[in-house]
Amino acid sequence: MSTKKMLVLLGVLLVSAVLFTACAGPEGPAGPAGPAGPAGPAGPAGPAGESAMMNAADLSCSECHDAAGTVSAKHQAWALEKHGNGTAMAEEYGRASCAFCHSGNAFSAGIAAGQNFSQVETAPSEPARQDCRACHQIHETYTSADWALETTDPVTFVVSGANFDGGNGNLCVNCHQARRYLAGFAAKDEAGNVIPDTYQANVRFNTHLSDQGDIMLGVLDVNDILGVTGKPGGHYSMITDTCVGCHLGESNNHLFEAQAANCVSCHADATSIDINGAVTAFEEKFQELHDKLIANGILDENGAAITKNADGSPVLYTDPKVAAAVFVYGALEEDASMGVHNPNYADALLDAALAALGE
Ligand code: HEC
Ligand code: HEC
Ligand code: HEC
Ligand code: HEC
Ligand code: HEC
Ligand code: HEC
Repeated sequence: MSTKKMLVLLGVLLVSAVLFTACAGPEGPAGPAGPAGPAGPAGPAGPAGESAMMNAADLSCSECHDAAGTVSAKHQAWALEKHGNGTAMAEEYGRASCAFCHSGNAFSAGIAAGQNFSQVETAPSEPARQDCRACHQIHETYTSADWALETTDPVTFVVSGANFDGGNGNLCVNCHQARRYLAGFAAKDEAGNVIPDTYQANVRFNTHLSDQGDIMLGVLDVNDILGVTGKPGGHYSMITDTCVGCHLGESNNHLFEAQAANCVSCHADATSIDINGAVTAFEEKFQELHDKLIANGILDENGAAITKNADGSPVLYTDPKVAAAVFVYGALEEDASMGVHNPNYADALLDAALAALGE
């Protein structure tokens, strides 16, 4: 008989003895103390220490939870930016089509399952920010090896099928890639068939705010329609770890802000991101496109697409070049780098969009 069964049996006997005594008459004297129980299983081995007398400094935990405050410093910067404090996570974590990019736990689970954002079937029941664990392998080995990124594999984009292979920036484009292209707005007739060369206006006539990877590669589907040759620029091919090179830099700044200090290796003397005035030039041209879309009755004064005709019917863009021009406006606005992610591509898109809208 196993020790456990013996103990159970012993317990049952003791209980019945107590019960029988209770029925039989006055309480007898307490029985002798039982034997000591079996020893519990051995605990996990502790981390190796240099000396036999362990102290806190010997623990591998302190490779990260150190006196210099590595974790709390990164936490502080992260909490000030949108991965840490953005509001979209709280709204979107519970929707399967949004969760991969907007909830850190859904991202980690999706990456582990080899999924992309469009393959998530069940959203998490509880929200989690895009936190340390979303990007790093925290508490796997309990050593500093856990700063390793969740993934750095090249990414095949869901909408375009393009391949992004930009070192540690690959982590980012799992989320920072477009969710839809112009083709996603093709107008349909009552039977649900696509009407050729016709697009239906929408207040979200754009890629979603996540198209940074697509702009870097230059692969939007408006290229053919507008006659633009899209290709990656030096910022994709020359910068080590692409996104990470500009947004984190050598100090691994967790404010995730592009900093001029990360530009000087190529743009000597850069003190702002407005290198050669190219950002100012972009903003002027972008404003020109904005004004022209309003003048042509496509956007309202607030810059929102007009989606209904006077008779209440949906607005259709029957000239693909015009539709592409509206899409360029949305895609560059959502990219939010003022052309920096791929300066020549952004400029070519703006020129072609302006030309498509006529004089
Ligand atoms: C790779 C670096 C790293 C190592 C090594 C590490 N931790 Fe952590 N730990 C973190 C990070 C990052 C967090 C999350 C901090 C945050 O969210 O602000 C964390 C959080 C924690 C927390 C807070 C609760 C939680 O899970 O969020 C505890 C407790 C903790 N660690 C204990 C330990 C112990 C004990 C060890 C060693 C056995 C250890 N850690 C080793 C990086 C590390
Ligand atoms: C799990 C998906 C995911 C990953 C991975 C990811 N991001 Fe993000 N990122 C987001 C989302 C979602 C937001 C917006 C959050 C919000 O507004 O609620 C965002 C916001 C940002 C912002 C705007 C920050 C601000 O405060 O204005 C920058 C810049 C950014 N990410 C850069 C990066 C870089 C660089 C990487 C790779 C190192 C990266 N992201 C990895 C999902 C992700
Ligand atoms: C492919 C990844 C991805 C998917 C899927 C995705 N988003 Fe996002 N979303 C992002 C990123 C990245 C940003 C932030 C970009 C930035 O800050 O410039 C963002 C930003 C947003 C914002 C603006 C947040 C702010 O702070 O301004 C909202 C709202 C939003 N998403 C809603 C949704 C909804 C709703 C869905 C699902 C229907 C969804 N997203 C699906 C990646 C994604
Ligand atoms: C959006 C993704 C993302 C999030 C969220 C994030 N990190 Fe990072 N972190 C990175 C990237 C990318 C690097 C640079 C890795 C590289 O280039 O080797 C990095 C580097 C680091 C490093 C330097 C690692 C080393 O090997 O020395 C530390 C420390 C760190 N992160 C801590 C944190 C902590 C703590 C949090 C949570 C408060 C956090 N990170 C959240 C993406 C992220
Ligand atoms: C050449 C350097 C550079 C590279 C490489 C780069 N970025 Fe940027 N990014 C910028 C600059 C500059 C801005 C504009 C920042 C500003 O407004 O201050 C920007 C803006 C952004 C924004 C909008 C931030 C906001 O406040 O709304 C996001 C999100 C972003 N980048 C993500 C990425 C991702 C993801 C990658 C990789 C696919 C990437 N960036 C690659 C320089 C870079
Ligand atoms: C590894 C080299 C490298 C780094 C680092 C780099 N760039 Fe560039 N940048 C280039 C190259 C090459 C071009 C020429 C255009 C192209 O190839 O796309 C360029 C062009 C530009 C332009 C257009 C300039 C013009 O005259 O039209 C801007 C704006 C720009 N970069 C901004 C930045 C910012 C902001 C950073 C830092 C956050 C940065 N770059 C970091 C290589 C770099």
